[in-house]
Amino acid sequence: MLAIIGGSGFAKLAGLGNARREVVRTPYGDPSCALTHGDFDGHPIVFLARHGYGHTIAPHEINYRANIWALGRVGVTSVIAVATVGGIRSDLGPGSLVVPDQIVDYTWGRRHTFHEGPDRPVTHVDFTLPYDAGVRARVLEAARRCGESVSDGAVYGCTQGPRLETAAEIARMANDGCDLVGMTGMPEAGLAREAGLAYAALCVVANSAAGRGESANAISLSEIHEVLERTMGRVRRILAQAACC
Ligand code: HPA
Repeated sequence: MLAIIGGSGFAKLAGLGNARREVVRTPYGDPSCALTHGDFDGHPIVFLARHGYGHTIAPHEINYRANIWALGRVGVTSVIAVATVGGIRSDLGPGSLVVPDQIVDYTWGRRHTFHEGPDRPVTHVDFTLPYDAGVRARVLEAARRCGESVSDGAVYGCTQGPRLETAAEIARMANDGCDLVGMTGMPEAGLAREAGLAYAALCVVANSAAGRGESANAISLSEIHEVLERTMGRVRRILAQAACC
């Protein structure tokens, strides 16, 4: 079964049929919200709002372990994570949609693994290719069928937040090879890999990253909201298509 994790601007998924909510308890505490079960044209999906339905949970406060564990508990095998990002690469301006293929993790202090604790054997997972090839292809194919242009491949740099970055931090990230900057891609993707869930992200560029393009001197938060409003329908169409293919 497919799950969709919705990020900023995507706390609800309109168009879901037969929606019902399920509260899942986990050994790691509470997920961000109850899971919503529903279907797109008869194809079942599970939806989870990463920041909670009221958008009250900051990126560094999200219980990523509980969220991923809860999805596994209800039988999810694949995840499409919708994530709002800043564009570092000059061709990834506001309104661009991107399916990244790599990650650089700059976060700290987050509970980032299931493999810890006194009675657990040391366990390493391969993370060379952090996103699942099959789910990436599914999102790209869905976008193609919708006639939506989506960039295939980018390096997602994950910062701690909740503040936005300085221009110098973005310049350093560009030097590191990052094309996008967001705050929630990790440890979510790593935990999905540990849990055996096939995971990929669909990123919505809400703004040029700090110091770039229209954000040369400041990032306009009101423009971020406008871009997300404008882009929501495109993302929803791609997700509905992806649920069916
Ligand atoms: N930086 C980090 N996260 C973001 C940004 C940004 O510029 N825009 C949207 N999410």
